[in-house]
Order: sequence, then structure tokens, then C-alpha cells
Amino acid sequence: MPARRTPFGAAGGGPRKGAALRRAWAGPLAAAAIIAAVPAQAAAAPDPAHGKQIYDRCLACHAVAHDRVGPRHCGLKGRQAGSMPGFEYSDAMRATGFTWNRQTLDRFLTDPLGVVPGTTMTYDGIKDARERRDLVAYLLSLPPCGGR
Ligand code: HEC
Repeated sequence: MPARRTPFGAAGGGPRKGAALRRAWAGPLAAAAIIAAVPAQAAAAPDPAHGKQIYDRCLACHAVAHDRVGPRHCGLKGRQAGSMPGFEYSDAMRATGFTWNRQTLDRFLTDPLGVVPGTTMTYDGIKDARERRDLVAYLLSLPPCGGR
């Protein structure tokens, strides 16, 4: 580390000792803060980075930027279900009246075939609530679709 500018000059022993003392305190305090923060975070904030890993399970049929067996997922937030131009949806999906948001995605992805009987998305769903929450956070973070 470069020498810090202090009023005591380069040779000053005092400030260094102070820094060492502060470091000695910072370690245990930081560790305590992390231990305290982890359970709270697990309960509250969704983790879109974890959701992106869960999204690997969708890649068999979906991509973010182009249609595959399933429609593209860019711009999903606020989109009407079954409205991506050029993709052939089932009548069942078009008839849901869903607008994709946290609630509708959570519901649909829990049990796609149960929630939208007749959907062509033949996938069992994500049963783990935390996985679903993180996946939905990731889906809602996707940017609008660019030029086609
Ligand atoms: C077996 C292939 C397959 C898999 C796996 C799959 N999907 Fe789908 N998905 C589809 C198809 C096909 C549709 C169109 C359904 C329809 O029209 O009834 C669809 C539609 C959707 C829609 C509605 C999109 C729109 O434009 O309205 C969402 C949201 C969605 N899928 C999310 C997911 C997520 C998230 C996963 C992973 C957990 C996933 N899907 C896994 C095939 C799949």
C-alpha cells in the first residue's frame, strides 16, 4: 500500500498503529455483520443472478432474444400473455388475460399445465418457492426486445 499522507510525516509510528488497531476490530465486526445479514437476505431480497442459473432449465425451449419451441423472453415485464408477434401460441395461453408480472409469473411457473390447462408449455414447473422467486426476478429484469 502507498504511504498515506499524515500530519506526522512518513516515519510516524502513531497512525500506523491506529490503522492496525482498526483492522483488528474490523475483522470480527464485519464477520458479525455478515452472519447477521445472511438469514435476513434469504428471507427478503430476490436474487436475479441465482434466477439466471435456474433459467438454464428453460433453455431447452426458450431463449431471451429469439423464439424457439417457446416464445422469446425479452421484454416480458408488463407484456400481455400470448402477445409476442410471430409466435404461435395456444388459444389457452392467449385466453388467460395475464399481464406478466411478479404474481402472474409466480402462479404460472408453479404449475404451468395446471394454471393454464391446454397450454403447449409441457413443463412441470418450479416447485421451490425461493427458486421461483429468484427466477421471476431474473425474468422481470430482462431488457426490451431489440430489432428483429
Ligand atoms: C418443453 C418446452 C418448454 C420448457 C422447458 C419451458 N417452456 Fe415456457 N413455453 C413453452 C411454450 C411452447 C410456450 C407457449 C405456450 C402456449 O402458447 O400455450 C411457453 C410460454 C411461456 C411463457 C409465456 C410467454 C408469453 O409470451 O406469453 C412464459 C413466461 C414461459 N414460457 C416461461 C418459461 C420458463 C421461465 C421456463 C423454465 C422454468 C419455461 N418456460 C420452460 C415451452 C417451454
